[in-house]
Amino acid sequence: MASKTKVAAWIILQLSVLFCLSSCSCYIESQQQQESDRVINLLPGQPSSDTNISHFSGYITVNEDHGRALFYWFFEAQAQPSKKPLLLWLNGGPGCSSVGYGAAIELGPLRVNQNGDGLDFNNFSWNKEANLLFVEFPIGVGFSYTNTSSDVTQLNDEFVAKDAYIFVLNWLKRFPQYKSHDFYISGESYSGHYVPQLAELIYTRNSDPQNYPLVNLKGFIVHHNRLSRMRIFGGYDPCFSTYTEEYFNMADVQSALHAKTTGKWKVCNDSILNTYNFTVFSILPIYTKLIKAGLKIWIYSGDTDGRVPVIGSRYWTEALGLTLKYPWRTWYHENQVCCFLMCPVVPHF
Ligand SMILES: *[C@@H]1O[C@H](CO)[C@@H](O)[C@H](O)[C@H]1NC(C)=O
Ligand SMILES: *[C@@H]1O[C@H](CO)[C@@H](O)[C@H](O)[C@H]1NC(C)=O
Ligand SMILES: *[C@@H]1O[C@H](CO)[C@@H](O)[C@H](O)[C@H]1NC(C)=O
Ligand SMILES: *[C@@H]1O[C@H](CO)[C@@H](O)[C@H](O)[C@H]1NC(C)=O
Ligand SMILES: *[C@@H]1O[C@H](CO)[C@@H](O)[C@H](O)[C@H]1NC(C)=O
Repeated sequence: MASKTKVAAWIILQLSVLFCLSSCSCYIESQQQQESDRVINLLPGQPSSDTNISHFSGYITVNEDHGRALFYWFFEAQAQPSKKPLLLWLNGGPGCSSVGYGAAIELGPLRVNQNGDGLDFNNFSWNKEANLLFVEFPIGVGFSYTNTSSDVTQLNDEFVAKDAYIFVLNWLKRFPQYKSHDFYISGESYSGHYVPQLAELIYTRNSDPQNYPLVNLKGFIVHHNRLSRMRIFGGYDPCFSTYTEEYFNMADVQSALHAKTTGKWKVCNDSILNTYNFTVFSILPIYTKLIKAGLKIWIYSGDTDGRVPVIGSRYWTEALGLTLKYPWRTWYHENQVCCFLMCPVVPHF
């Protein structure tokens, strides 16, 4: 009896040591990879500001057999990152870089200056409120690549959503401290498609916990512009591109960011736009499904996008057949019409 108890205790001890060894070594490995992605010194032309910018960049492999890897740039929240949500930002095109637009021109804390030779601190960066993750996506955009050239002929909505999903899983393996954080996805232009498609894939895989790890997806935010595909690269201004192209083609910038490139870094890759296979035509059913699933969804159209996108957004959100919690109303900011509000909405299924 006594010896049986001893044996059982010994087995439990061995098992817990084994468990600790495997999970601890995995943890240490991810810590080491994470630290080697840390951007240690100031980037070329970066002002030393009062705000400490904690950021990381590098590659996440999304397919080992084919050698596909996506390049990311991650900024921790400026204060209390352990308490802030994680936000993934995707630019559209298809074929445009989230590093070149989202991070370096729009919402990141370090924006490329107009000479293309340095950075300015952005006081309105979204990393005041969130841990901010930018990824160059799909393969062929920016520093992201594949070692199997035939992959680039496969680019369509399903293929890129799967790569984005694997990216999220593998990024969270490298940054396990963010696994429990609320996770949101956001983007603009063709990301009006990418974002709900990725959200749907995460939602589907989350409902199969035996085979897939849980991603703590809470919702998404999209800038909606129905015309985006008809305009060159969704309305991105090519004038802005030239100075980010100067900056990200500097050899010392690339080495500081742990980026590898064989050719020129381009903010948008035209050949992706020309060869991309649009396979999902209507995203309305995805919205219906994800609203029902309880995700928080925020759709916005800017007033400088012109009347059509704003009215268009209003028509198609009305087409979802939701019950309005509050009627549409104008939202003023400092005596100017800022927005039209239709939130929150409640589904009536
Ligand atoms: C920034 O980081 C440095 C070095 O870790 C530290 O000495 C300094 O106090 C930090 N500044 C702020 C504003 O957090
Ligand atoms: C792609 O090939 C290069 C050169 O062989 C190799 O160093 C790199 O690790 C490969 N990338 C991936 C994601 O396997
Ligand atoms: C940046 O924003 C903070 C408030 O968030 C403000 O106190 C500060 O003056 C701003 N700095 C600049 C340079 O605008
Ligand atoms: C652009 O994408 C194509 C695939 O469509 C790829 O072959 C090419 O290398 C990419 N160009 C650049 C500059 O990255
Ligand atoms: C686009 O994708 C669809 C569905 O996967 C396929 O049937 C079609 O052949 C593809 N077209 C091109 C030009 O690759």
